[in-house]
Amino acid sequence: MRTIIKGGRVIDPGHMDGICDILIENGRILDLVPAGSRDGAAAPGRVEPVEIIDAAGKIVTPGLIDMHVHLREPGHEHKETIESGLRAAVSGGFTAVCAMPNTSPVNDCPRVTEYIRQRARAAGLARVYPVASISMGLKGLTLSGYGGLKRAGAVAVSDDGRPVEDAGFMRRAMECARDSGLPVISHCEELSLAAGGAMNEGPTASRLGLAGIPNVSESIMVMRDIALSELTGAPVHIAHVSTAESIRAIREAKNRGVKVTAETAPHYFTLTEQAVEDYGTNAKMNPPLRSERDRQAVLEGLSDGTLDAIATDHAPHAASEKSVEFSRAPNGIIGLETALPLCLRLVEDRVLTLSGLIEKMSTGPAKILGLENGIRKNRPADITVIDPEVQYRIDAARFRSLSRNTPFDRWRVTGKAVLTMVAGRVVYRWE
Ligand code: DOR
Ligand code: ZN
Repeated sequence: MRTIIKGGRVIDPGHMDGICDILIENGRILDLVPAGSRDGAAAPGRVEPVEIIDAAGKIVTPGLIDMHVHLREPGHEHKETIESGLRAAVSGGFTAVCAMPNTSPVNDCPRVTEYIRQRARAAGLARVYPVASISMGLKGLTLSGYGGLKRAGAVAVSDDGRPVEDAGFMRRAMECARDSGLPVISHCEELSLAAGGAMNEGPTASRLGLAGIPNVSESIMVMRDIALSELTGAPVHIAHVSTAESIRAIREAKNRGVKVTAETAPHYFTLTEQAVEDYGTNAKMNPPLRSERDRQAVLEGLSDGTLDAIATDHAPHAASEKSVEFSRAPNGIIGLETALPLCLRLVEDRVLTLSGLIEKMSTGPAKILGLENGIRKNRPADITVIDPEVQYRIDAARFRSLSRNTPFDRWRVTGKAVLTMVAGRVVYRWE
């Protein structure tokens, strides 16, 4: 069947921005027809039937990619399953997500990688790109077998949720990952400096009587991993950047030509440590929400290109697990169903252009991970249609995710993914 996405403003960063029709067949983009020229349905080689998707007044972008998601399956299916996580993903406009390996069992062998991919295929929603662990069991003692993991479908390695503490071990990990053609995604945290803290170190933590996590516990590891990337020539991607000092270090490293890329998450440019007072454990994550100065640095890092990607760090936890004393609650908030409207505020606030935002949420992650991307002839028809005007209230009770741990419930927002297409198939439509 041929599908036509008609009359939308198609934005493919660096390639095109204009009104056109997209012709789709056999899961791929067959052609782009500028508005006002021949009718797509009547194009040569026409096959019946034709499905027409009216995108007038909408933004049509390459499918959004969330490169940092905790799908929780296998092992923690009460928080999320691959299917529920992917339902949340497509309703947030994501056509692909990277699945972090801190499941049970850990994704440290091809069997687990294959299981995740098979479950994802069975769900038939967004694509899943598994991230395998750097070390067996996330223990930081033995390297996982990167060659086999890559052949099984892993696109990167990470011990996310935990730092790789031993610098020598990280060096060997980078060397092996480089030789296998896999980027290393680093969760940067120096545990002796974080010292069991529960939120950002500063006046709010003091007022609440909570142990603080200083900025330097993140930035010192960012600096170490930059140095190791420089030594080994291995590409390193810094996960969930939250501090001004990390951003300064990444900016300087990029200027020297180090192969470092970085992501931040919507909560780090939307909230500060203040939110802990308002939202309690639904504002607890690792790294923690920081100061206004850090939030401003994140905005600057996004606009000057120091930060290449926005990823959600979607980290579902059950309500019962979050309903405990702050210091004992697990880290993490969900993000798949709130990311797009929060990110669109960056366009409204002129931090990024619309094209710049799509770069952070699609083209950028694709480039880091070596994925096919873009609304161009012959590329896979992974497409997100966005209504940039629609206003609504976020309603966590109606999330597709199995978890509800978000500080953004009841927030008034603007902009929604109204249609998500993966390989030419509509996998989500906003009713
Ligand atoms: O807040 C977080 N939650 N940070 C992490 O690094 C891990 C994640 C999780 O798995 O819950
Ligand atoms: Zn992490």
